[in-house]
Amino acid sequence: MNFSADRLLLFGATGDLSQRMLLPSLCALAHDGLLAPELKIVGTARSEMNDARFRNFAREALERHLPAGRRGGLAEFLNRLSYQALDASTLEGFDDLARKVGTPGQGLAIFLSTAPSLFEPTIAGLKSAGLTGANVRIGLEKPLGTSLETSREINDAVAAAFSEDRIFRIDHYLGKETVQNLLALRFANLLFEPIWNANYIDHVQITVAETVGLESRVAYYDDSGALRDMVQNHMLQLLALVAMEPPTSFDATAVRDEKVKVLRSLRKVGEGESVIGQYRAGAISGQAVPGYDDELGKGSATETFVAIKAHVDNWRWKGVPFYLRTGKRLPERVTEIVIQFRCVPFSIFEGRGAKTQPNRLVIGIQPEENIHLSLMAKVPGLDRDGLRLRPVPLDISMPDALAGAVHRIAYERLLLDLIEGEQTLFVRRDEVEAQWEWVDAIRDLWNRTGVEPKSYPAGNWGPSAAIALAERDGVTWHE
Ligand code: BG6
Repeated sequence: MNFSADRLLLFGATGDLSQRMLLPSLCALAHDGLLAPELKIVGTARSEMNDARFRNFAREALERHLPAGRRGGLAEFLNRLSYQALDASTLEGFDDLARKVGTPGQGLAIFLSTAPSLFEPTIAGLKSAGLTGANVRIGLEKPLGTSLETSREINDAVAAAFSEDRIFRIDHYLGKETVQNLLALRFANLLFEPIWNANYIDHVQITVAETVGLESRVAYYDDSGALRDMVQNHMLQLLALVAMEPPTSFDATAVRDEKVKVLRSLRKVGEGESVIGQYRAGAISGQAVPGYDDELGKGSATETFVAIKAHVDNWRWKGVPFYLRTGKRLPERVTEIVIQFRCVPFSIFEGRGAKTQPNRLVIGIQPEENIHLSLMAKVPGLDRDGLRLRPVPLDISMPDALAGAVHRIAYERLLLDLIEGEQTLFVRRDEVEAQWEWVDAIRDLWNRTGVEPKSYPAGNWGPSAAIALAERDGVTWHE
């Protein structure tokens, strides 16, 4: 049943994500006239506060995290907010919460931005208070478990109260405009699709590099590590979007059917196909930063960097390695996808002393959104001894090309879609489980073979073994 929710219930309303992303996104949507005037937002968390204090709390968060230019109508936005304190680990209090939410005219959207250990009790509480009916849908923030088994437990608990068409699993990378633009690049242009396969592509690189370290999420991150924090979700979603077949439409089922086929075609990672690292003290942009152990306050074997050589075993991608790498405290914050094409089958210039280099398409996702295509061109001049060739870039800066477009927070798209019931940019159960299955096998391999993180100085591109992982195949990571 499709409906546009006129109530939004936000669990974890006083948390970090709520302050930095959720409240700012909702306020920005309201500012742009994208929220129905009747939409009311109820926040809930453990802290005791009344509506007035929550509005004050929200105002402070918005002043910190939303540019002034997007805060117009702040007072009106704050008026939509109310608050109910709740300990979601017990059933008590859910009836009061239901009273606070009231009876929606059309429907209720719930967003769980809490520790996953609270998902099951929260669902039980919602059920007991009659907040799981056909006009209720639920959004779940990551992490959705820590393994296939625990993610199944969460999925089962949620499925006991909500049908799949009312479950919205968030991967905030799918809310990024630039990530959606990957689909536009591939499927709204004729140019690339005919050569988007093993006949023309030598390999693919996906990098998600961060300069930040542990930040404030010490316990979560040390339990999780880079593989589960970044690869299981964001990087596999990027890989799926790069590798998927053209869906029959931009409809949620069609798009997700194609993504899941890719995830299921991922070959198990073998020995020697992954490298893990942990940063030690170093410097980022000239600033000294402590090592992971120092930030944590104890020794730990958690990986803050991972590089993997992955394979998609299907007709289109047979024999094309996908090199993935992500890490904390790397030299720069950059997310990019590199499509390295093969060499021309025969170079007519070779005899004239000119070397051709294969074309390369670099899709910059963040911080800059741009597309570079390197093409071979003749260097101007009347060279006697032959002809000189050089790669020249064909550059498109998306902000310049689409001047005037508002730079949106990924959660704006996702919250709007949750409210309106559009599932295309949310992760389906079979996808998330295929992701975990692949990642669990990597962890099993590491445990079986005693793989341990190699140390790298903060501000470097991970341990040298990660460079060797690609170099063994004659591949250089793009920098
Ligand atoms: C989160 C991870 O999912 O994504 C964080 O838990 C990471 O560790 C963050 O920093 C990166 O997101 P973005 O949007 O800044 O690339």
